[in-house]
Amino acid sequence: MNSYWVDTTTRPKFPKLDKNIDTDICIIGAGITGIMTAYMLLDKGLKITIIDKGEICSGVTENTTAKITSQHGLIYNYLEVTFGTEFASLYLESNQKAIDTIENIIKKENIECEFERVDNYIYTCKDEYVQKIKDEVETINRLGVEAKLLDKIELPFEVKAGIKLHEQARFHPLKYLYKIVEILKRSGVEIYTNSIVINTKQEGKEYQVITEDNIIKAKYVVMATHYPIKSFPGLHFLKMYQDRSYAIAIEPHAKIDTGMYISAETPVASFRPINEELLIIGGSDHKTGENSIDLDTSYKSLETYAKEIYPSMKVKYRWATQDCVSLDKVPYIGDFSNLMPHMYIATGYKKWGMTTSHVAAEIIRDKILEENNKYEEIYKATRMAPIKNHNEFGNMLKQTTYSLGINKIKQSKYKIEDLAKDSGGVVEYQGRKMGIYKDKDGKIFAVEPYCKHLGCELSWNNLEKTWDCPCHGSKYDYTGKLITEPAVKDLDRIDIKQENS
Ligand code: FES
Repeated sequence: MNSYWVDTTTRPKFPKLDKNIDTDICIIGAGITGIMTAYMLLDKGLKITIIDKGEICSGVTENTTAKITSQHGLIYNYLEVTFGTEFASLYLESNQKAIDTIENIIKKENIECEFERVDNYIYTCKDEYVQKIKDEVETINRLGVEAKLLDKIELPFEVKAGIKLHEQARFHPLKYLYKIVEILKRSGVEIYTNSIVINTKQEGKEYQVITEDNIIKAKYVVMATHYPIKSFPGLHFLKMYQDRSYAIAIEPHAKIDTGMYISAETPVASFRPINEELLIIGGSDHKTGENSIDLDTSYKSLETYAKEIYPSMKVKYRWATQDCVSLDKVPYIGDFSNLMPHMYIATGYKKWGMTTSHVAAEIIRDKILEENNKYEEIYKATRMAPIKNHNEFGNMLKQTTYSLGINKIKQSKYKIEDLAKDSGGVVEYQGRKMGIYKDKDGKIFAVEPYCKHLGCELSWNNLEKTWDCPCHGSKYDYTGKLITEPAVKDLDRIDIKQENS
């Protein structure tokens, strides 16, 4: 199902790349980061080209809850304790500034995108989180931004404590970005869609950005691809995982229209009014590809929860998204690797990309223009310190070991006849392992069940009828067509004799 944002806009269309071109800056990825980076670099005398494997804004950008806030969960006390007060202060300042940047752009370009300043709240319903909320309030105030400790908030249930941060914002992200894209087009930025980049190569001081049929030569490359499509030498796959979450937009039959809300505790519950009639409720987070949970419950549990609060509510929209999470909870923005000058990335937004995309666009702009940016150092993408997060790093290694080694040599305990119609899984068939989806009519779609990124064994996602990678979150449809990077190729399809299902 489409998100509300998609259903209430018309997506501008762009051609597929069908020639070799030379450009100054090649931005791979036409989501919010790619588009805003191009916008920040307008009028600098540089030729800019954007290329995307799908349509513009068709990834995480169209599936956001569109909260523009610097309150990225309970982050500031953690940042201060882990990295120090100055670091936490710069993180807060950069994201607060991003809210102003968005507002200023909207005013300057006269964009009608339902932007409004509203307060953001983090709340808890659990006693054990009350002290964490108090610590967070103290930290934010110490960092110079006013945060209020509350024992009541507007939500229709009781809370134990909450934090209110003033003057955050919300908007319609696609109305905003489609207008920016119009400006880019008018200014001569070339945009190509449905053109997948399969590799990049360094050639002297330039790069070749290689698609299936063409090559773009560029002085600067910005990988604004959500997850970097290049693994080496950046090694971000060792420092980041992907997390999936779900949203429903309901008609709640009870007005809640003054703020934006998220729980401190897990499972996370997020509330974001769109207008007086519609309310987004988000949650059911899990690591992408995690096969120990029943994904069929993802929307159901959100709906059950919504019904408890609003018994006569109606679900109008459902959508899902996933985002990259760095092991130290700080995005990676800047140089991809010290060995590859003029290649940049922006990733690891952990679902707070409305502000961090704008922080990233400004940092990358300043790097290209060789200007100072006071926030560059805290987001440095080449840092290896995150792997010192032994718990998460250990979990990732364990997952990778299983998916890359143990699972691959283990025989599957399932056979093709064990699969019901409209379901899938990794099965033993014709003496080998295969990824099989059996559609509603019993037609079989077979693929090699190994990810095209680094080869991990894939998990079947019966909710979305996709093959998900538990290692770094690549996603493919049931025919093997790539949906989400870091992989850049479709799965190998297996032609098997169609037998009775
Ligand atoms: Fe890395 Fe699949 S996404 S191995």
